[in-house]
Amino acid sequence: MNTKWKPEPIRSSDITPEAVYVNRRQFMKGAALVAGGALLAACAPQAAPTPVPSVAATYDGQKDELGDPLTSYAAVTGYNNYYEFTEDKEGVAPMAKDFKTRPWTIEVSGLVNKPRTYDIDELMKRFPPEERVYRLRCVEGWSMVIPWRGFPLNQLLKEVEPTGAAKYVHFVSLLDRDQMPGQHSPFFVWPYSEGLRLDEAQNDLTLVATGLYGKDLLPQNGAPLRVVVPWKYGFKSAKALVKIELVADQPPTLWLTSAPNEYGFYSNVNPDVPHPRWSQDSERRIGESDRRPTLMFNGYADQVASLYTGMDLRTNY
Ligand code: MTE
Repeated sequence: MNTKWKPEPIRSSDITPEAVYVNRRQFMKGAALVAGGALLAACAPQAAPTPVPSVAATYDGQKDELGDPLTSYAAVTGYNNYYEFTEDKEGVAPMAKDFKTRPWTIEVSGLVNKPRTYDIDELMKRFPPEERVYRLRCVEGWSMVIPWRGFPLNQLLKEVEPTGAAKYVHFVSLLDRDQMPGQHSPFFVWPYSEGLRLDEAQNDLTLVATGLYGKDLLPQNGAPLRVVVPWKYGFKSAKALVKIELVADQPPTLWLTSAPNEYGFYSNVNPDVPHPRWSQDSERRIGESDRRPTLMFNGYADQVASLYTGMDLRTNY
């Protein structure tokens, strides 16, 4: 999704059960190189396959509210965007496997009456988790259906009491060059950060996720906690959060700083507003072979369209 990125062909891992594709990975990397389709993947260090834990059978056959089946646990945990580690989507899981998620604190501060720093385990006890099945639509044109575990961000915001001056929320990911080799890249301004307008952050759909498929998050998905904003392109859902800051002005974000002509602050999923280099009107659901039409606000218009009443979504892309 940086300026080097181009839409990709379907990969074996998208459509093959994980037991098969994990064994095939080394072969497919070679095949992709011959096809000239995955130079980044081919250049990545060769990593041992990561064992995939089994998932409770209760998820078998589960669907989202539109009737779409869940994306396999293997794909959700094996095909990731996490630039702090690598730009090779299948390389993130093996590279991140030893990432330390304890001890971990998250600071909630800025324009609030009651700033607080939570220990992650204290936070997880304080806000009982619920399960939410959300579609995740990446700006690159692929999507997944994921059963997240977490709690609405508005519960946390309520506890710290935003002041009247707070208009935006800034999400800041961990900065740790020793653990995250991608942070040596000079192409981005680290740490990763994202932002929402306060009312977007307070919308009930906006989740603080601590798990998926009934288990704690694995490092590649943003452990120990991330935000999930399902009506926006996936890059708004920042991983490995260490700080949530309430601010008065629109905060800087990694993608906006790197490529302002390509990535807007709002980044609502919108099939009518193309990315400057490709259309956004369809997507490849991981695990399916045919592309499917992309839905306005990723199918969540009923819950969020009113946030943008009167706004021109072509200008505010
Ligand atoms: N958060 C951080 N800190 N670093 C990243 O590179 N990538 C984003 C988002 N959050 C990213 C991030 C992008 S582009 C997407 S599509 C989603 O995470 C992917 O989430 P997943 O790997 O859990 O599917």
